[in-house]
Amino acid sequence: MSQPQLIRACVFDAYGTLFDFSSAASGCKDELGEQTSALTTLWRDKQLQYTWLRSLQGRHADFWQVTGDALDYALETLGIAKPALRQRLMDLYLTLRPFPEVPDVLRRLQGAGVKTAILSNGTPAMLAAAVASAGIGNLLDAVISVEDVGVFKPHPHVYQLACDRLGIGAENIAFASSNAWDAYAASAFGMRVIWCNRYGQRPERLPGQPDHEVRSLTELPVLICP
Ligand code: LAC
Repeated sequence: MSQPQLIRACVFDAYGTLFDFSSAASGCKDELGEQTSALTTLWRDKQLQYTWLRSLQGRHADFWQVTGDALDYALETLGIAKPALRQRLMDLYLTLRPFPEVPDVLRRLQGAGVKTAILSNGTPAMLAAAVASAGIGNLLDAVISVEDVGVFKPHPHVYQLACDRLGIGAENIAFASSNAWDAYAASAFGMRVIWCNRYGQRPERLPGQPDHEVRSLTELPVLICP
């Protein structure tokens, strides 16, 4: 970052950034076969759409419900009617595989005196399960869920929640997300932003401008605490 001494906390998005949401469908490849990747894409796209639509409508439901609703939509679209498989996929969403570099990156940040936190649409229970399954609980200073403000990203209340919970101003927080729209929104809010462009997406045409673009989180500690 251009003023590294000012970064006091690094806040991470969860799904797609720390945890690989594709690992749920991949874990059911024995049943999904060639539809595995189509299910991952449809499920994720619909899940995000429902968060945005519900936020616009002022009709919040938590991320567990939204994730289940999106899965139902995706399974029906693909012509899959298997209740036991649906249950298996939802169970796997609680134990998503962390991206391989995650524990080391968190350790390096903490070692440099930077606070680490998650800021996610996930419910407290979903996030607690994913964090425990990944074994990274001791590497996080805070796990913050949007449930505390009752609206999804990219509502500014969500980014404000991280500032309030950490007691740190937006300009002293580095925010990392693989979701471009989330990265741009955090930047527009005033955070310093690292867009972890794992999926090779094009830049958004939205307010905000990430300070850095990286392909994995491995490069992040050097940017924050050189
Ligand atoms: C989250 C979603 C947006 O963790 O990935 O908030």
